[in-house]
Amino acid sequence: MDIIEEIQRLKKEKNAIILAHYYQEPAIQEIADYVGDSLGLSQKAAETDADIIVFAGVHFMAETAKILNPTKKVLLPDLNAGCSLAESCPPEAFEKFIKAHPDHTVITYVNCSAEVKALTDVVCTSSNALKIVESIPEETPIIFAPDRNLGKYIMQKTGREMLLWDGSCVVHEAFSIEKLIQLHKKYPDYKIIAHPESEEHILKTATYIGSTAGMINYVKEHANEKFIVATEAGILHKMQQEVPNTELVPAPAKEDNTCACSECAYMKVNTIQKLYDCLLNETPHIEVSEDIRKRALIPIERMLELS
Ligand code: 13P
Ligand code: SF4
Repeated sequence: MDIIEEIQRLKKEKNAIILAHYYQEPAIQEIADYVGDSLGLSQKAAETDADIIVFAGVHFMAETAKILNPTKKVLLPDLNAGCSLAESCPPEAFEKFIKAHPDHTVITYVNCSAEVKALTDVVCTSSNALKIVESIPEETPIIFAPDRNLGKYIMQKTGREMLLWDGSCVVHEAFSIEKLIQLHKKYPDYKIIAHPESEEHILKTATYIGSTAGMINYVKEHANEKFIVATEAGILHKMQQEVPNTELVPAPAKEDNTCACSECAYMKVNTIQKLYDCLLNETPHIEVSEDIRKRALIPIERMLELS
């Protein structure tokens, strides 16, 4: 059996769409109908007329697609595809935190659970966080959760104080500043580009800071340059396809691992075999209680309107 042909056949037969994040393994990106960042993926999920959405990404992304599409089946190849950042913000603790600051507008990064979204005023992604924060009147205090690094970065960009939740992403905090400086000494003509989930000392070295889609666009627009890329290494597949002649090096991780880069173990639990199995069996699928879904939908729709 040719698994790729079988996935294509099942997709047609079941009127399914495959949405994949840039951090997915190359084989999954290749078979996907759309590959994008968190914002692009939620926009695609909001507009699709497919009956089944196969979400090759992590749980909070598939959950967002389900919140937008309650009558569609949303499949996730492996339910263990979680997110350290989403886990760093348990809904009960977050509810207490926002109750202690009732005058604050609550902005949450999309990397959080449906329960946390249900406690939120506006959702954002790394593509639109700046725009969303700037859309809130100057005099209104803001709670920003769960990513402290993105929050700090937005505070510096806007000059605006925000109350930050102390969460972070293990993948973006795995970069080693010492190794990055050494690497830059070896490749002094390479520009460093970084995702805003990275720590402040990494961001300070970067020529460009943006979402995964933003980083890809930046590299496309500067195709004559060379880059050290500080985000999950899966992005290099799409980047190299877009700019085949550009030299790209992944930013080094603190721990030595097989790729000497930073990989998201959650993203990588999805495989092409699991994608095939879930499309064939229509499981595992995402469920969200109707009460939470309705409440979480409001801040997601506000984000989509503002984007
Ligand atoms: P974006 O694709 O929105 O930049 O987010 C990166 C990320 O960490 C997704 O989990
Ligand atoms: Fe979550 Fe970080 Fe993995 Fe993105 S890269 S899914 S933020 S753990």
